[in-house]
Amino acid sequence: MDYTIAVLPGDGIGPEVTNEAKRVLNTIGDVFSHRFNFMEGLVGGIAIDETGIALPEDTIEISRQSDSVLFGAVGGPKWDDPSALVRPEDGIIGIRKALRLYANIRPVVAQKDLLKASPIKEERLTGVDFVVIRELTGGLYFAKPKKRWTNRNDRMAVDTLTYSEKEVTRILKVAYDLARTRRHRVTSVDKANVLESSRLWREICIEIAAEYPDVETTHILVDACAMQLIQDPGSFDVIVTENMFGDILTDEASVLAGSMGLLPSASLGVKKVKKSGGGQFGLYEPIHGTAPDIAGKNAANPLGSILSAAMLLRLSLGLDQEAQCLEQAVARVISERYRTPDIFIPGDKIVTTTEMGQLVVDQVYNR
Ligand code: IPM
Ligand code: MG
Repeated sequence: MDYTIAVLPGDGIGPEVTNEAKRVLNTIGDVFSHRFNFMEGLVGGIAIDETGIALPEDTIEISRQSDSVLFGAVGGPKWDDPSALVRPEDGIIGIRKALRLYANIRPVVAQKDLLKASPIKEERLTGVDFVVIRELTGGLYFAKPKKRWTNRNDRMAVDTLTYSEKEVTRILKVAYDLARTRRHRVTSVDKANVLESSRLWREICIEIAAEYPDVETTHILVDACAMQLIQDPGSFDVIVTENMFGDILTDEASVLAGSMGLLPSASLGVKKVKKSGGGQFGLYEPIHGTAPDIAGKNAANPLGSILSAAMLLRLSLGLDQEAQCLEQAVARVISERYRTPDIFIPGDKIVTTTEMGQLVVDQVYNR
């Protein structure tokens, strides 16, 4: 079957890691007789430089016409002036909204072979395997008013945290449905002791929990959750939370996996992929940023992007066997102790971005 994938590499290490993901997808195509047609689009800082805005209309159009989107990363010191009117981050935030991708899925697994790469004690990491469901198109990122002004020589700013019942309900359902396919536990994270939006969230969560009596629900405040993620990470199965809390907690959670460079993510909405076996249309991206310090040095870890491609195969294209093949290839490369610098510990074999991509390609051919 032929598939069209929009590829939006973005800035910094984005292009380097997405290149490896593309290479690996082509290999999967070779082995399983599929064809992936990649359509490249501009996004982020590079799009600002070339067109003046972070998310050109063309990029949205290419994405809409594709079976799914592979995203790199956006941002960098060049565009970081806080008074700038356009920002690279508008690219990712804008495309999530334009494609109505409200459910961000971030699996966190501490693989046996990588326990030593994490600064957390090994015994705490054993068995860590959870998924964070982050609401992605609401909350502080989007609600109005969101602006700056001056009040009698005092500079002011506001961001608004709004959530509707519909938004909260649909994301909670994603979490509960997922929990049913896993260990039947949902941890709902809020700040209900302070925020009205969190009190609404908790109220709705209690109602939904009643519809899923087979799933055990825990409500936890976001600050306590941040602590428990380090203290007892093995206790989580499915974590569900609003946009900003999810952003912060998933960076924290990545430390458990050994490196941010390893973690993939999927952002899903309502649209389906109209192909036999097709699943939900989505955007796939590693959770890491543009890492300007190592950009262009062939030192970035491409596994987060490659594992995002595996999620794309499974969730958008319905190609489960292919996704599994890719994930197993990555696991074998890791178990043979090939490491990019971010997960390197003495005794490992250090490799570049492109070498890591090639190792995964070889393993897919040798499956
Ligand atoms: C993420 C990133 C983005 C976010 C940035 C780049 C806007 O941190 O995907 O977690 O805050 O959502
Ligand atoms: Mg983030």
